[in-house]
Amino acid sequence: MNDTDTPGFDYARYDRIRPIRWTGEALELLDQRKLPFVVEYATCRSSDEVAAAIHALTVRGAPAIGIAAAWGVVLAARGIEAGDGEEAAEKLEPAMQHLNAARPTAVNLAWALLRMRVTLKSSGADWRARLIQEAEAIASEDLAANRRMGSLGAALIAPGSGVLTHCNTGSLATAGFGTALGVIRAGVAQDRIGKVYAGETRPWLQGARLTVWELQQDDIAATLIADSAAAHLMKSGAVQWVVVGADRICANGDTANKIGTYQLAIAARHHGVRFMVVAPSSTVDMATPDGHAIEIEERESAEMFGIGGVRTVAEGITAWNPVFDVTPADLIDAIVTEKGVIEHPDPARMRAAFGT
Ligand code: MRU
Repeated sequence: MNDTDTPGFDYARYDRIRPIRWTGEALELLDQRKLPFVVEYATCRSSDEVAAAIHALTVRGAPAIGIAAAWGVVLAARGIEAGDGEEAAEKLEPAMQHLNAARPTAVNLAWALLRMRVTLKSSGADWRARLIQEAEAIASEDLAANRRMGSLGAALIAPGSGVLTHCNTGSLATAGFGTALGVIRAGVAQDRIGKVYAGETRPWLQGARLTVWELQQDDIAATLIADSAAAHLMKSGAVQWVVVGADRICANGDTANKIGTYQLAIAARHHGVRFMVVAPSSTVDMATPDGHAIEIEERESAEMFGIGGVRTVAEGITAWNPVFDVTPADLIDAIVTEKGVIEHPDPARMRAAFGT
């Protein structure tokens, strides 16, 4: 057992899904547009293919897109010659900027690319090997962080609780184990969580297509609800915690996450349900003062016009499709990172945990 591991969790038996595989030649991504009925890896052989896969949500979830982008840099390096890391960094900058532009809200993307850039700048002739080591480190550190957060987050939950989660924050969205879903895995293993509810997460259905399927692989029974059933569920007394992930956590604790998270936080406060955000420190962005400064990704209206390729909306309708929202810090009871738990986040507590 590693010191990040959750007591009572059988890692060998559970948590076997891995969305990102590096073969030594190419990057394989478990195609999340096709799950749950088709389990198939898409192969990327260039950084442009990785950028396109991130944009298309073939790979998704803040930590996973950071890891995929790091491997994208390794693939881009195949196409250049450079005597040292400084020269390689200059030549790879266009590819890194292209990867960075694939999705705007999750800070893990820019964070992983910065790590690759810093690695290059401190490398000599060995820069190719150092890039590969750094991409491996980004992935293995993410897995360790998730296991640690599983322990820390589960410890906040009283035995026998019900929890509601949103979007997909599991192995599919990370190097493995998951963030909010990692807390749920650990909480179920320790009998702290008696019942798990997952919201569908319109329009892309990460909850319905991914989360309940992923939990089913681990024999964890989850009950799917329509997003619009959340407040009614809370009123019934069936859930004591809402547990979600994050795409960017600002210096004051404001948190961007999948669209619909904000309304869950408002409903949770109204009903006395506690609200937990679980994310690795790679999701913390101390350079962004508060949620107003976060760019919220808006995607094509077409994502709202049908389900599974079947059109459900009349022709000629206008739709607005922001895919993230910001939950203000004062609606968050706890932010859990691998560095510890921040209760009732505010600028001073964030600074104490993460510096400036
Ligand atoms: O659009 P997605 O599916 O990439 O959005 C994912 C989320 O909002 C997750 O909650 C977040 O990235 C955390 S994943 C561990």
